[in-house]
Amino acid sequence: MSEANSFDCIIIGSGPGGYVAAIRAAQLGFKTALVEKDKHLGGTCLNVGCIPSKALLHSTEMFHFAAHGAAAHGIQIKKPVIDVSQLMAKKSATVDQLRGGIEHLMKANKIKVFHGLGKLSSSNQVRVCSKNETILQAKNIILATGSSVIELPFLPFDGKTIVSSNEAIAFTEVPHKIAVVGAGAIGLELGSVWARLGAQVDVIEFLPNIAAGFDKDVSKTAERLFKKQGLNFHLGTKVIGVKQDGKRTILTAEKDGNNIDFEADKILVAVGRRPNTEGLGLELVDISCDEKGRIPVDAQYRTVAPGIYAIGDVIKGPMLAHKAEEEAVACIECIAGQAGHVNYDCIPNVIYTEPEIASVGLTEAAAKEKGLTVKVGKFNFLANGRAIATDATDGFAKVIADAQSDRLLGIQIIAKSASEMIASAIAHMEYGGSAEDLARTVHAHPTLTETLKEAALAVGGRTLHS
Ligand code: NAI
Repeated sequence: MSEANSFDCIIIGSGPGGYVAAIRAAQLGFKTALVEKDKHLGGTCLNVGCIPSKALLHSTEMFHFAAHGAAAHGIQIKKPVIDVSQLMAKKSATVDQLRGGIEHLMKANKIKVFHGLGKLSSSNQVRVCSKNETILQAKNIILATGSSVIELPFLPFDGKTIVSSNEAIAFTEVPHKIAVVGAGAIGLELGSVWARLGAQVDVIEFLPNIAAGFDKDVSKTAERLFKKQGLNFHLGTKVIGVKQDGKRTILTAEKDGNNIDFEADKILVAVGRRPNTEGLGLELVDISCDEKGRIPVDAQYRTVAPGIYAIGDVIKGPMLAHKAEEEAVACIECIAGQAGHVNYDCIPNVIYTEPEIASVGLTEAAAKEKGLTVKVGKFNFLANGRAIATDATDGFAKVIADAQSDRLLGIQIIAKSASEMIASAIAHMEYGGSAEDLARTVHAHPTLTETLKEAALAVGGRTLHS
């Protein structure tokens, strides 16, 4: 093996898990290679996930404000018109800028990038398949190959009418009618984007609630607010197939034994993601996946194969970019003999709708299921001065604390900027804080974050402003 193709660490996959692992490895002095099958670095999150969807959410929120909110501020705008190609160009510019950022980081950290499909050929060799085949060697190999959208067998993607989020972030015109299958993060975010631009959006969800990972009071509030924005929810409804009636595409579903038809120009299937573990050569190193296709690892991200590690969406836990990044750092630090660690009790979860929904820790329901006695404090944004001044009165903050120790168990916020506000809640939980600690922390006035403090005060029955 030539010196040029021998490394201390090879990382397969350049998403938030893979490229962050590469940077941390380089920082710790490892000679590092990053293997990526796509043309661009950054993985799903940057190229077709978190970042483009956030750009579209921001642009369409401004469009919605121009159409429906501006007049109340004395800003007169004639009926705004959306130019979808410019909307997409703005989104692409955001993605391009960040792609350039990652490429720069790779160069600056002297990380060697190989473009091609990475496959294990032994416990210390990776075959990179592109036009030419290159064999790389390293003592440590990190699998960070991410996940792909799940396809329903009775609703196969055709890329035109039946689509995944990959296409729904790149429609060239506003569809007249969209049927969204699944009211999780992707369904709610992309359903919101197109509803704001005037599409009729039907969201069909198997469960009785939208945003199922949050407490019921949060998801019911979200449902009420999103309904006002034009999203039509069909809950407890199972999608069973699709049929063609002449030129019309009709999604078929079932609720309480009755069949319901949804005519749609576009059907967005957003029913979850599955780990990318096929074709990686795992069988060559005796790694078997679990029932969900995930690679089993120990607390230091070691697989059963010596020298091979896995992080991010290919292992257990929520499929979230920030979880993958933390695992990347911890995994490399463990390889370097340091004490890398991820606190899985403090991983935030956010849906970037308007208002946003954010949480950390246990829901009230999950805490009770665990047999814990809880105290809950809630505070509405309607009673917050900054919220009134900035049109942000929808929603509430909820603090869940242990009734005996007062320790914070979980926090949920549904509000404008909830994704930013949750950060201070996470810090309190990370340091083992109590509701009393949060209640006695000085929050700037007037800010939306005072709602969090008030919710913590409410745990002890002493809110000041309601
Ligand atoms: P999800 O798992 O969040 O939600 C899928 C929903 O589809 C569930 O509520 C499920 O009950 C429903 N469903 C499944 N089969 C169905 C059927 N046949 N008929 C009707 N409903 C059905 O999955 P989603 O939204 O596709 O997201 C995939 C992953 O990507 C998740 O792990 C999510 O956390 C992550 N993600 C995170 C984002 C964020 O952090 N803001 C944004 C987008 C994705």
